[in-house]
Amino acid sequence: MTELFEKGRKPPKFAAVPNHIAIVMDGNGRWANERGLTRTQGHIAGEAALLEVVAGAIEAGVSHITAYAFSTENWKRSPDEVRFLMGYNKEVLRRRRDQLNDWDVRIRWAGRAPKLWPSVISELRAAEKLTAKNTTLTLTMAVNYGGRQELVDAMNAISEKVASGKLKPGSLTQKSIAKELYIPDMPDVDLFVRSSGEKRTSNFLPWQSSYAEYLFMDEYWPDFTKETLWKAISLYQTRQRRFGAAVDAPLN
Ligand code: FPP
Repeated sequence: MTELFEKGRKPPKFAAVPNHIAIVMDGNGRWANERGLTRTQGHIAGEAALLEVVAGAIEAGVSHITAYAFSTENWKRSPDEVRFLMGYNKEVLRRRRDQLNDWDVRIRWAGRAPKLWPSVISELRAAEKLTAKNTTLTLTMAVNYGGRQELVDAMNAISEKVASGKLKPGSLTQKSIAKELYIPDMPDVDLFVRSSGEKRTSNFLPWQSSYAEYLFMDEYWPDFTKETLWKAISLYQTRQRRFGAAVDAPLN
């Protein structure tokens, strides 16, 4: 899938489109194994699904997609799979950045540097630089990302500011904590989607998803299409978001 727009595949008219969708791209391994393929072949199929979903998101008017590409816990996988995923992240960024740039997509990285391959970091930085001025959609790749670790990293940065007198003890606010996250200006997640039927959040964007709507979909990630994304947006529209407020609607 290289073209953004394809004849005959148009999103429905949505009354409310989520501004920011977080995606846990789960099920590559099971998708592959059910077809007698290797797990790495599942990840390769996952790349096409990601590009397709980004195109579908642009067509629907979504502004931010954050995709979980490699978690701080994924280092526990076999050395072969870790090596493959590192190399593949690098390759996908290099191979797809021009296409994403043509689509006016801004690529960003959320994650931590320690342990991450330096070549992956430089590919992420190069993609960020190339696409820095794009505004149609921001695609944040969560690579070596863990939600608790993000908060630990933020707390450590804050404690150093307190120690050096740049911050007053007891003066922290939600805003000043958010400032220390990997992408301080990342908007809150509106819709959190996980593929493959697993009903877990797996340490993905806990701070940013505090008021997200959660959707667990049965499709394995490589089976995700534009239409699956549009179905997710349609389901999102049926949710009533109250952000803690109440709606007074007596039944009689
Ligand atoms: C989860 O499926 C997937 C990952 C940990 C990797 C995500 C990678 C891709 C979608 C490939 C595209 C590449 C890039 C760089 C975006 P799983 O392996 O946990 O599947 P399983 O639960 O069926 O074993």
